[in-house]
Amino acid sequence: MDISSVLQGGYQHPLSRSWQSGKTLTKSMLMYPIFVTDDPNARVEIKSLPGQCRWGLDRLKELLEPLVAKGLTSVLIFGVPVSSEKDIRGSLADDPTSTVVPAIKLIRELFPHLYIAADVCLCEYTSHGHCGIFQSDNKVLDSLKSVERIAEVALNYAKAGADCVAPSDMMDGRIKAIKRALIDNGFGNRCTLMSYSAKFASAMYGPFREAAGSTPSFGDRKCYQLPPAARGLARRAILRDVNEGADIIMVKPAMPYLDILASAAELAPNHPLAAYQVSGEYAMIVAGARAGVYDLKTMARESVDGIIRAGATVIATYFTPDFLDWLDQ
Ligand code: PBG
Ligand code: ZN
Repeated sequence: MDISSVLQGGYQHPLSRSWQSGKTLTKSMLMYPIFVTDDPNARVEIKSLPGQCRWGLDRLKELLEPLVAKGLTSVLIFGVPVSSEKDIRGSLADDPTSTVVPAIKLIRELFPHLYIAADVCLCEYTSHGHCGIFQSDNKVLDSLKSVERIAEVALNYAKAGADCVAPSDMMDGRIKAIKRALIDNGFGNRCTLMSYSAKFASAMYGPFREAAGSTPSFGDRKCYQLPPAARGLARRAILRDVNEGADIIMVKPAMPYLDILASAAELAPNHPLAAYQVSGEYAMIVAGARAGVYDLKTMARESVDGIIRAGATVIATYFTPDFLDWLDQ
């Protein structure tokens, strides 16, 4: 064999294998998505998202304390109001007593060093379950009104103490509007803006929508989320959000879109890059393991190693509690 044909001498030992990776998974790269509901004592399992629950405010300590002790560094909060009436503008999104706003305040108080990111969207709070506000015909989204409302919600999360606001709605122009609102209200240097820049209209959000009660009551999200085959649009969305003032760029889902993540790393080389391993990816990996297709830990690690190899520096994943254990083993 030619000398240059032999690669196996470079990774024959666990240590030399580890030297072959670029960046490698650490606890601080993990962001844990959590669902906060408005029944203070709730701990409701989400069937399609095994091991994950909707938590009431009074039980957040029970959820987070052991995780923080194991090295959890950040959470991504989603609100799930179940006991109040939703309306067409998503008033519950930033209601001071409902879900996200009190959760931010409470978590800040309980765990002063935990990095608190809040997902910003309207779909969990609107009566129709869409991510924006409609024009008077109730058929077409009103971009300006939607963006104005989304920026208002983001600012209220920042005021409540969020370290990061993360708009997942995919409305045109929202990054610029949110950044402006943050700067004009004195939060320009106090709150990170993480944009779900390349968010695709994926079939893998199903368990999340069960968890968050955010399935649209009519139609789908194809007029705002990207078509799965659209590399060009994804690249344009990433560049746009960089120019509009995003501090972190996110690609979502992760596994079927690793090429987009790699593109993002090239298009936004000066930004941290986040990947969201979404509910359906998590459910799929867990289901495969239960069916005996592979070992759960090995597969979960492989999926995240791939995401990091593609360029991610932050990973939102429901496997976060597992990784906090696995990384210690
Ligand atoms: C809502 C939102 C969704 C997710 C995050 N924010 C679902 C959707 O767009 O319908 C998906 C997260 C997941 O599946 O884990 N804008
Ligand atoms: Zn939404």
